[in-house]
Amino acid sequence: MSTQNPSPKAYITPPGVHVIDHPLVQHKLSLMRRKDASTNTFRTLLNELSMLMAYEITRDMPTQAIEIETPLETMTARVIDGKKLVLVSILRAGNGILEGMLSVVPGARVGHVGLYRDPHTLQPVEYYFKMPQDMQERDIVVVDPMLATGNSAIAAIDRLKQLQPKSIKFVCLLTCPEGVAALQKAHPEVPIFTAAVDRQLNEHGYILPGLGDAGDRIFGTQ
Ligand code: URA
Repeated sequence: MSTQNPSPKAYITPPGVHVIDHPLVQHKLSLMRRKDASTNTFRTLLNELSMLMAYEITRDMPTQAIEIETPLETMTARVIDGKKLVLVSILRAGNGILEGMLSVVPGARVGHVGLYRDPHTLQPVEYYFKMPQDMQERDIVVVDPMLATGNSAIAAIDRLKQLQPKSIKFVCLLTCPEGVAALQKAHPEVPIFTAAVDRQLNEHGYILPGLGDAGDRIFGTQ
């Protein structure tokens, strides 16, 4: 791993990148970054963070007016139609975000995209793709904890665009200037929601200071 850059240039978050800097989000993220956080702690915090992030990401979700009865009278009240929302997990680390988000938007549908990196071309190759029906009517939220090189996110969004959904958002926990630049170059209209933009990508494709391999930390595979 490289050493800390002694004079990091101030990074100005570009338009289209939403850093969710709520103190609760930042606190939980800091606890997750610690190398001594156990698998159980890491997973619990990721679950809680995903719920908090869902709150911000769904801020512009449309609502509809319905008639309800309170114990005292009838009123017109607003409700969301969670079924129009599809959470798309980029396997396998994306699954760590699903549970928290689904507890906030239980009506959402779920899709999965599996990609691996071809060792010769270094390009992502799709091995799994399963989505709900009627994607043209749906708003998609793609989830992956780490936006690092951006290759998986770009490939997943390339593929999802073929289904002509109403909208696509991308949600991660952590990214870096290189990941933001790559995704925005390929898909400039896709908003990025993140808890932090870290300093840099290293030569192995890891985010610094980062939190390590998100999949290994979620599933305890290292
Ligand atoms: N994937 C991870 O899990 N961590 C990184 O830092 C980069 C990609």
